[in-house]
Parts: sequence; structure tokens; C-alpha cells
Amino acid sequence: MQKLKIGILGCANIAKRSVIPAILSTPNFELVAVASRTEAKVQEYADLFGCEAVVGYQNLIDRKDIDVIYMPLPTGLHEEWSLKTLDAGKHILIEKSLAMNYNSAQLIVKKAKEKGLLIMENFMFIYHGQHQLVKKRIEEGEIGEIRCFRSSFGFPPLPPDNFRYSKELGGGALLDAAAYTVKASQLFLGTDLRVKASTLKYNNKGVDIFGGAFLENNYGLFSEVAFGFDNFYQCNYEIWGSKGKITVHRAFTPAPDFKPLITLEQQGTIEEIEAPAENHFINILNEFARCVKEKDCDSKYSEILNQARLLNELRDKSELNI
Ligand SMILES: NC(=O)c1ccc[n+]([C@@H]2O[C@H](COP(=O)([O-])OP(=O)(O)OC[C@H]3O[C@@H](n4cnc5c(N)ncnc54)[C@H](OP(=O)(O)O)[C@@H]3O)[C@@H](O)[C@H]2O)c1
Repeated sequence: MQKLKIGILGCANIAKRSVIPAILSTPNFELVAVASRTEAKVQEYADLFGCEAVVGYQNLIDRKDIDVIYMPLPTGLHEEWSLKTLDAGKHILIEKSLAMNYNSAQLIVKKAKEKGLLIMENFMFIYHGQHQLVKKRIEEGEIGEIRCFRSSFGFPPLPPDNFRYSKELGGGALLDAAAYTVKASQLFLGTDLRVKASTLKYNNKGVDIFGGAFLENNYGLFSEVAFGFDNFYQCNYEIWGSKGKITVHRAFTPAPDFKPLITLEQQGTIEEIEAPAENHFINILNEFARCVKEKDCDSKYSEILNQARLLNELRDKSELNI
């Protein structure tokens, strides 16, 4: 397959730490350039990875030698820059959360459909093999029938100037940490989940800092999620069944060289399972390349819209409590 030529909007930490090293180690992509609002910053960043430095996001989007834009901008900037990118005829791998709300997600997906371009949210954790291992053990009947899914993702406070504390830029724990737990709920309970109850706690600037929710699917199976930016670190899920319970201890952020621990509890026994180490950033890039090659866009549009719908429902239901 021909390499996809990729450019990056913004000198983001996540790109430097995880996504660019993954791009450089998969044969499906060629890193062409990175763009920033600031010249000094972008030159240093580009030199680090041996690609071109571009000042100004539009200048990168307008280039003819790029097929894909990776967009690790704050969520509040996604609508503007993804519409511009799609207008310029480029596929997008976009950081979560894709949009500030469901209407914005619909607008972006509508444009992607019109242009026949792929847009995919960078929920890399889904593509780590540990979840397939969990699914296999459930299918083999190890925990009996699923009764309940629970997930927590939270971490201690970030530096005060982090964009996650800016309402305008799409900060808040809902669009960040909660997004993972809601995505994981769909992985095991399906896409027909609805949010039945939720709560969001806000700081004095109106940014949601922590919260929780209760979701239920059409079969009455339910998920309890908890998330936050002012919490003791947690990054896990458990699936409680009629005969056992399976727990994934590092659900969303296993490093590439880390073998995640899964525990399977049954009456009187606890089995510790070590999943193989994997780089889920490489895995999602390869999935992206497959989707472009096979023109498999519709499933990704649906995933985006369902996720945005659920986050919207979570926010709406929490407002009923105020
Ligand atoms: N998938 C994952 O595992 C994962 C992990 C962490 C974060 N993320 C997501 O990735 C995105 C970036 O997160 P990050 O922690 O890497 O953030 P970050 O280092 O602050 O990067 C954000 C970038 O956005 C650009 N930007 C444009 N306007 C901005 C503004 N007004 N304020 C701040 N930045 C602005 C900046 O690039 P220039 O200054 O160069 O223009 C900045 O480097 C977020 O959407 C986050 O949710 C995903």
C-alpha cells in the first residue's frame, strides 16, 4: 500500500510523546510536516522528528502533498479546523473528544460524508489487544452472564494553565476522562446505551472537574462510570457477571512496553492474566490506514455520533440535578 502522507496541526504533547513516534514506526505513514501558531516552537519540534516546519495551520492544510491531518488541538478548536481540513480534501485523525456537543459532531460528520473523507477519533485504547482477550474470556463463559460494567478514569490536578481548565477551549472532565469510560461501556454493552442519570461537579470557572453516570442498554444491562481531574489516579474497568468478575487494571493508558494485568475472579479463585505489551497508537494508525484503503468510513462516522450523543446526554442529565 502507498504510504499516507500525514501532517500535524499543533505542537501538542500527546503528538510528541506518543503519536509521532508511532507514525514513524509504521510503514503505512510518512510524516511530512507539523504546523504551529508559533515559529520558534515549530522549528524545534520539526527538527526533533526530521519533518518540515510550517507556521500557521491553514498553510499546512492547503498543501497538496498531504493526504491526512492528525489534529491534537483542544476540542474547542476542532469544529473550525476539521471543517477547513475536510474542505481542503484531507482525511482526519482527530483527538478525543471530537466535538463540544452533539450538534457540532453532526456538522463535522456531515461534511466528511459530503466529501467522502475519513474522520476517526483517536480512541487508541480500543485497539489494544487486552480488550479482545477480555471479550474472549467472557465468550468462553468464564464470568457467566454479564450483569454490570463499571469503569473509572481520573487523575490528580493538572497545571492551572492547561487548556483542560478552559471552558471556551472545550476543557472539563466530561470531554476528556469521561469520554474513555463511555467509550469502554459501548465496547462491552453495545451502542444502544442511554444515560439514565449523571452528575457533574464544576469549579468556580464553570469547568466540570469530576462526575459520574449510570447508563443502560435495551436489555437492561447497565454501566456505572466515574471520572475526574481532581482524583486519585484510576484507569480501569470491571465486568461483573453471574459467575465471576473480570477486571482490567490499566484500561486506557498502557505504555507500549507494559504488559497489562487482568484479573479473573471466580468462586474461590483469582487468576492473574498478563496481556501482551502492545503499542495501541500504532494499532489505531494501522486501522486508520485500512479504513482509508477500503473506504470504510461509515462505521467510524457512526462511532463518532454515538459517542457524542452519549456525552451530550450525560451533560443534559446532570443539568437536571442543578
Ligand atoms: N489519545 C490520547 O491518548 C490523548 C492523550 C492526551 C491528550 N489527548 C488529546 O490530545 C489533544 C491535545 O492534548 P495535549 O495534552 O497534548 O495538549 P497540548 O500539549 O496543550 O497541545 C495542544 C496544542 O494545541 C495548539 N493550540 C492551538 N490553540 C491553542 C490554545 N488556545 N491553547 C492551547 N493550545 C492551543 C497548540 O499548538 P501550537 O502552539 O503549536 O499551535 C498546542 O500545542 C487534546 O484534545 C487531548 O484531549 C489525547
